[in-house]
Amino acid sequence: MANLTKMPFNVDISKLQPDGNGASEDGKTVVPGGLPGETLSVTPLARRHKVIYCRIEEVKTASKYRVECACPVADICGGCSLQHMEHSAQINFKQTNWLKTFATPPKEIIPALLGPKLNYRCKARLGVRFVEKKGRVLVGFREKMKGFITDTQSCKTLRLPAGDLLKPLSKLIMALSDPKSVPQIEVACGDSTTALVVRHLGQMSKADLKALEKFSNVHGIHLYMQPAGIKSIYRLAPRIAEPFLHYDLYDHDIRMHFMPLDFTQVNHSINRSMVNLALDLLSISQSDQVFDAFSGIGNFSLPIARRAGRVIGAELSSESVARARYNATENGIENATFVELDLFKDFEQDFLKQTSHLLLDPPRSGAECLMRSIVKSNVRRVVYVSCNPQTLARDIEILVKGGFGFDKAGVIDMFPHTAHIESIALLSR
Ligand SMILES: C[S@@+](CC[C@H](N)C(=O)[O-])C[C@H]1O[C@@H](n2cnc3c(N)ncnc32)[C@H](O)[C@@H]1O
Repeated sequence: MANLTKMPFNVDISKLQPDGNGASEDGKTVVPGGLPGETLSVTPLARRHKVIYCRIEEVKTASKYRVECACPVADICGGCSLQHMEHSAQINFKQTNWLKTFATPPKEIIPALLGPKLNYRCKARLGVRFVEKKGRVLVGFREKMKGFITDTQSCKTLRLPAGDLLKPLSKLIMALSDPKSVPQIEVACGDSTTALVVRHLGQMSKADLKALEKFSNVHGIHLYMQPAGIKSIYRLAPRIAEPFLHYDLYDHDIRMHFMPLDFTQVNHSINRSMVNLALDLLSISQSDQVFDAFSGIGNFSLPIARRAGRVIGAELSSESVARARYNATENGIENATFVELDLFKDFEQDFLKQTSHLLLDPPRSGAECLMRSIVKSNVRRVVYVSCNPQTLARDIEILVKGGFGFDKAGVIDMFPHTAHIESIALLSR
């Protein structure tokens, strides 16, 4: 067994872990970037719980699924974990892992929903760090297995122009009076506007603010400042602009307005296809009442409202509820109601009394509590959108035991080149 001296050794990779890392048969050597069937020369990076994590020095025997990465730092940057794997093999890997999680499998598999593979990412939190040894500021995602910020000039998965702004941003922050005062920058892209939210700890000087405004002007982006908590965010530049970012759901003639830190789906392009698929699966008519659980800013509720008799959207965040109501008004939708509700707790069943159809899109922890309410209700058709196969499988089992049939399900390529799995499922009774 190898130790943590930096001596290279050879390892045969026999499996891919759910996190996308390659691993030896016994699982004791883990290699980010390794693919099954490969022999790699590696050096140890870290040891955690009897597992040695290694870096690839040389690919001795390559998998037929290995491809050239689009990004020169894909092997270091923690933003992607599967760029080195041919895209259809990525989908295969996700589908296989995802299917394994279900105790009761779906009766039918929906073909994977595919979208753009690069420049798809509309939301990101970029780390910012002044690195003494390099004498400059780094802006980007953290390295794999480490807390350092990846030294890179651009990002191939971020939407443009944001993906090409890492180097200019690092120069901008480096030129501020205190480059250490900026720990992170949030990226949020709308269809026609890119917003950056600069978190800063100290006070910015007049010259700093001028430099930031100039950056906004030169690169055509909206710059927001965040001196404290989320409520302190304000737009620095441009001074005159639309108050919101937006993305359009063209097929439903809906414009979704949002603020940079509102929850929106990461990949707006595939989101459009996902909303359409969810609507097809829900199969609603004008006489139906639909409950949209975890409704956010109304991404599913408003297109549903175009087809249903009535929609109730429920959501914990008061800001999102306010935005959903605004979006309903702006799009001339009058049959959608939004309520602020903690769906992790038991709630008034009254909401579900008249509901025949329910869509839910919970956070990673799933919606165990809501499942029990659904079983007791008159809901006949459930569409479940999930970003976590484990909690999806757990929740679906509750519905299956409660008398629902697991009709169909499929994966959605929301996060190409990462191991994250988005999926959708239809259950009915
Ligand atoms: C994956 S997002 C889905 C949002 C929306 N469906 C969309 O497509 O944009 C999950 C949403 O659940 C909300 N949420 C988190 N915990 C919640 C809770 N306990 N009760 C209700 N909503 C919650 C979040 O604020 C977030 O808007």
